[in-house]
Amino acid sequence: MNRKDSPDIERRHFVQGVGAALSLAPFVARAAVAADAQPAAVASGVAAAGSQRNNTFLKACRGEPVEHTPIWMMRQAGRYLPQYQKVMEKSDFLTAVRTPEIAAELTIQPVDILGVDAAIFYSDITTTVVPMGMHLRYSDQTGPSFENPIRGMADVQRLVVPDDPADGLGFVYDAQRICARELANRVPLIGFAGAPFTMAAYMVEGRAGQSFAEFRRFLFAEPGAFAMLMDKVARHTARYLKAQAAAGADALMLFDSNAGLVGPHDYETLNLPYVRQIIAEIRSTGVPILYFGLGAHASLKAIGECGADVIGIDYGMPLDGAIAQLGAKVSVQGNMEPFCLYQTRGEIRARVAATLEAASGARGHVFNLGHGVPRYSPVDNVKAVVDFVHELSSGAGAGKDA
Ligand code: CP3
Repeated sequence: MNRKDSPDIERRHFVQGVGAALSLAPFVARAAVAADAQPAAVASGVAAAGSQRNNTFLKACRGEPVEHTPIWMMRQAGRYLPQYQKVMEKSDFLTAVRTPEIAAELTIQPVDILGVDAAIFYSDITTTVVPMGMHLRYSDQTGPSFENPIRGMADVQRLVVPDDPADGLGFVYDAQRICARELANRVPLIGFAGAPFTMAAYMVEGRAGQSFAEFRRFLFAEPGAFAMLMDKVARHTARYLKAQAAAGADALMLFDSNAGLVGPHDYETLNLPYVRQIIAEIRSTGVPILYFGLGAHASLKAIGECGADVIGIDYGMPLDGAIAQLGAKVSVQGNMEPFCLYQTRGEIRARVAATLEAASGARGHVFNLGHGVPRYSPVDNVKAVVDFVHELSSGAGAGKDA
């Protein structure tokens, strides 16, 4: 297969100067990441998890007692940070995700700047399917798009499921090895992928849309092609996530941002089985697994059975109600309204207190927003959320406002 030579997946050269802040030693030649490298993955996952200096995130994922509630935020690495903008003066989005030194630097920035309890790997869900044959472009105005959207069975049949997850995505594992080394176990690293339904929606639609009408037509008009697409993406995604655990990811998260595009019956029959399949396959890594299905509120009970250790709750439902439905078998992550980052400091503090209170019945709680950090959020307010969570949930602060 010559697919790897496409300009889309070509490894760009390290942009001079960017990444210097990390004083990166030349990283070791890429270790082969075999598709089914379970023993390596298990060893890496378990050893890393046990040796974290701040392992509050991993403990909360597993429902173990914590000194304070851990917090990280979806889209914590991004354009609201001046330090991120500075790096991007010399790079662009696709170059940044494909250059391990830059991706590692951007992953670690929020840990240094905000003091969050976990790093999420700097990448995007759309990059994963490039080795399958999707041509990815990026525009600052419209975000990621595919030049060759899937429109029928013939397109699905052409999609490749690479045998080796390093095929065309080696830059991800290289970057994660740098992250693991540079983080030096300060906080865990979260690896991630888009869930198959969300990926299929982007692959068929070609770009982020409001209604995803083309995808919804496809999914009901061409059930055979849809099933084959989901199966191919799911197999690729499971290998990709296993390889991330082998490269140093301490937890794995599936983002299903388009889960709410269909109603509960269709979600549970057309989407969730593939999520369960992936989770069953990546269990062998030994690392905690998180699932975030945006907008799939009516299926929460079924989501609780998907096999994930942590269920992400979006801003659209009360956290205490979600916990009551999920029970004590899983931990929860969420769910402060993201645009509250534009409120006053006092209002933000009250929101944080209310979110912690709403989570008090959970087996374990990872504080997060109910979706990503908005693009122009005031950095001081983002940082204040982190500080309030730590203050109000630690021994000293707990109960003050509750
Ligand atoms: O900080 C982090 O959360 C880690 C990195 C991350 C990005 N995207 C970086 C990004 C993660 C986990 C994602 C996931 C992602 N990407 C999702 C699932 C979560 C969600 O937000 O629902 C989705 C749907 C995408 C697709 C995507 N990527 C869109 C629609 C856009 C354009 C709109 C936007 O939000 O900017 C992106 C661009 C994107 N994703 C950037 C980055 C760093 C480039 C813009 C930037 O510099 O912030």
